[in-house]
Amino acid sequence: MSYRNDAELIQEIVNVVLNKLAKPSVNSKGIVGIDEEIANVELLISKEPKKTRLIGIWGMGGIGKSTLAEKVLNKLRSGFEGCYFLANEREQSNRHGLISLKEKIFSELLGYDVKIDTLYSLPEDIVRRISCMKVLLILDDVNDLDHLEKLLGTLDNFGSGSRIIVTTRDEQVLKANKVDEIYRLREFNHDKALEFFNLNTFNQSDDQREYSTLSEKVVDYARGIPLVLKVLAHLLRGRKKEIWESELDKLRRMPPTTVYDAMKLSYDDLDRKEQQLFLDLACFFLRSHIIVNVSNVKSLLKDGESDNSVVVGLERLKDKALITISEDNCISMHDCLQEMAWEIVRREDPESRSWLWDPNDDIYEALENDKVKYQLHITIFESR
Ligand SMILES: Nc1ncnc2c1ncn2[C@@H]1O[C@H](COP(=O)(O)OP(=O)(O)OP(=O)(O)O)[C@@H](O)[C@H]1O
Ligand SMILES: [Mg+2]
Repeated sequence: MSYRNDAELIQEIVNVVLNKLAKPSVNSKGIVGIDEEIANVELLISKEPKKTRLIGIWGMGGIGKSTLAEKVLNKLRSGFEGCYFLANEREQSNRHGLISLKEKIFSELLGYDVKIDTLYSLPEDIVRRISCMKVLLILDDVNDLDHLEKLLGTLDNFGSGSRIIVTTRDEQVLKANKVDEIYRLREFNHDKALEFFNLNTFNQSDDQREYSTLSEKVVDYARGIPLVLKVLAHLLRGRKKEIWESELDKLRRMPPTTVYDAMKLSYDDLDRKEQQLFLDLACFFLRSHIIVNVSNVKSLLKDGESDNSVVVGLERLKDKALITISEDNCISMHDCLQEMAWEIVRREDPESRSWLWDPNDDIYEALENDKVKYQLHITIFESR
């Protein structure tokens, strides 16, 4: 390898020594199958070493994006001159405002307190310093398309070899900011999910075989989402088999609150029409287990020649990782999201619920109680 000057050579020597001295810094206690994911992200990070690159980690709520990004940072930090993990950008920008976050980011990267009073651009002295630094910056849970630019300005501000990793539930955030790479994080497979659930549920002294059928059922319910597995493990550990049975029964009717709250954030971000489309998919199309493809949905929901709102809405749901659309245009939705949707409908005003499905409970009540405007359920497709 050739170096342009002594400073570059010394920098490289420092990096190599720091890398060798670094302790194995990924603390993997309680963490499952993360090494493979870290390796995949590292591969994307290592491309074009001299450029500044933007890398996105995308996936549904609770899938492990923040966990992965944090582990990547811990593993790679010694190769960078400045590192910072900005957790929960969505929440923090709401709470503290973007200017204050911007000051935090650059103060942490540079190692001293800076004062910034503009969005999009940076004071000259900061640009001068940061452009000589190779940094690793993680912006976690970004939800607004323009926040990246407002917080960082142009990527040319950062020194050669810098890496900015953005985690998000919304692929649109990554596409709009023209990221160099997108890493889609997927659910745990069955074995990983079972391993993770057992790790969080049982002590070493427990006889896990006694619970194996029930554990399988819980893991089946969680469909590989670490957040759901963790919440359920905490709910069930140390409890008798009968309690497991009754909790499982409840779960089939209602998701636990933490899961509901975490998943609902993505739903709250949709506009009214997109929200309705999401509920319709969850309550009718997917509930009835018919094969749902984009053209059935379009025709049933009367997406006209001139009005492409259903197709646009489906694209939006896909970007938000709320549905998946396969190459042959079939639509699927994760069970936990479907259950969140049902719960949203259950919580609607009883007199104007958009969907009813339980014949023994809510449909019976609706027919008996003539205050309920149940024509809504018949005219649902015409109301758009
Ligand atoms: N590989 C893993 N091994 C063990 N636990 C994990 C793993 N990935 C995620 N978790 C656990 O699952 C939960 C959800 O993970 P995390 O917060 O990283 O999800 P997220 O994708 O960032 O969600 P959100 O979109 O809500 O920010 C956390 O409690 C985390 O500890
Ligand atoms: Mg997160």
